[in-house]
Amino acid sequence: MNTRFSRRHFVGGAAAALGALGLRPNSALGAALRPPPKGLAPLPRDAYDDLAKLSSNENPYGPSDSMMEAMNAAWKYSNRYGYPDGDIHEKIAEHHGIDAGNIIMHAGSGETLKVAGLAFLGHNEKVVGVEPTFMTVYRAATGVDADVIARPLLSDHTQDIDDLIRVTRRNYRDVGMVYVCNPNNPTGVVVSDDDIRRLLDGIPEDIPVLIDEAYHHFVQDPSYATAVPYIKEGRKVLVTRTFSKIYGMAGLRLGYGIAPAEMIDQMRTYTTGTINALVKWGGVAALEDRESEEWVKDTTIALREATASQLRSQGFEVIPSETNFFMVHTGRPASEVRAEFRKHDVAVGRDFPPMLDYLRVSIGTEEEMKRFMTAWNEIFPDGMTATGTR
Ligand SMILES: Cc1ncc(COP(=O)(O)O)c(C=O)c1O
Repeated sequence: MNTRFSRRHFVGGAAAALGALGLRPNSALGAALRPPPKGLAPLPRDAYDDLAKLSSNENPYGPSDSMMEAMNAAWKYSNRYGYPDGDIHEKIAEHHGIDAGNIIMHAGSGETLKVAGLAFLGHNEKVVGVEPTFMTVYRAATGVDADVIARPLLSDHTQDIDDLIRVTRRNYRDVGMVYVCNPNNPTGVVVSDDDIRRLLDGIPEDIPVLIDEAYHHFVQDPSYATAVPYIKEGRKVLVTRTFSKIYGMAGLRLGYGIAPAEMIDQMRTYTTGTINALVKWGGVAALEDRESEEWVKDTTIALREATASQLRSQGFEVIPSETNFFMVHTGRPASEVRAEFRKHDVAVGRDFPPMLDYLRVSIGTEEEMKRFMTAWNEIFPDGMTATGTR
């Protein structure tokens, strides 16, 4: 185990409690232990703990030690409204070489996506994008009575940029926003920087384009680049980023948007939540901890490629991914396969219409990926047959 990722000191823990009682942590194996006072009893293990959680594209390692230290030191601000916050807002701006007025922070980038939907889509307006993709913006559109124009992917699972340009131009008057998830969830496939530029050049310049870069940190494909420079060029582009993936803060909630100041102002009107003191300090430490970031990236990619190559060697199609997940062609309804995985205490993917015979698998720890492969080999004992069914 990599000791940099041992984080047993968050709020003390059972070992410290037993130490304070003069008992060795493993003395439960001996005799004279009193039952712990209420609140100190270990939480019962439930199905959650037993699951290999490969269904939500999380980071299985959680925050790094330096992030934990920063967050532990921030508990003292729990009772305050105003407190030093590590200058998280400015640190994010600095990280992108942009003004603080170009940044808006939320409790997860999912909230930024929803706020963008509220700010840029109105009744009967349309958001243009592909299908399948990450659905939050489309759901936000439905909530404000806007429509979704969801276009199919090409046969190589890439996004059809010419088609998106055509559809946006054809519906110009009604289009409130274009959404591009890059790399795309659930396929893991990138849109090249050339294609992003072609899209921006090909549609009317007053239409906002939301580019969701939740998985940016895992990308290796040299044709990809962040779209942040387009904001600096003055284009109507909103880039979203999250601390949930590479930095392991999904349960803590921190994400943000980068956009021209006028777009940020528009979104601020619709922002109701706030983020807490711990995540602010955790976020600052995350941006500074390049070593942990690299480790998570390298380990995730190594496990992804090792798993994908085992599946390919059995004849399964695995879509080449640039993220912390991949899609594999099951040849039968993925919902059935998922149910079988659950019997092995492995949670994988969900349905991504119309790709209903593809399973999305998030990259967990090495141990979790071994459990995944063991279950896979039992579910598909014969590999992929010529009929493509089992
Ligand atoms: C493409 C994409 N965007 C945004 C999010 C939202 O992440 P969060 O709200 O945790 O920042 C996710 C989460 O899975 C995602 O896959």
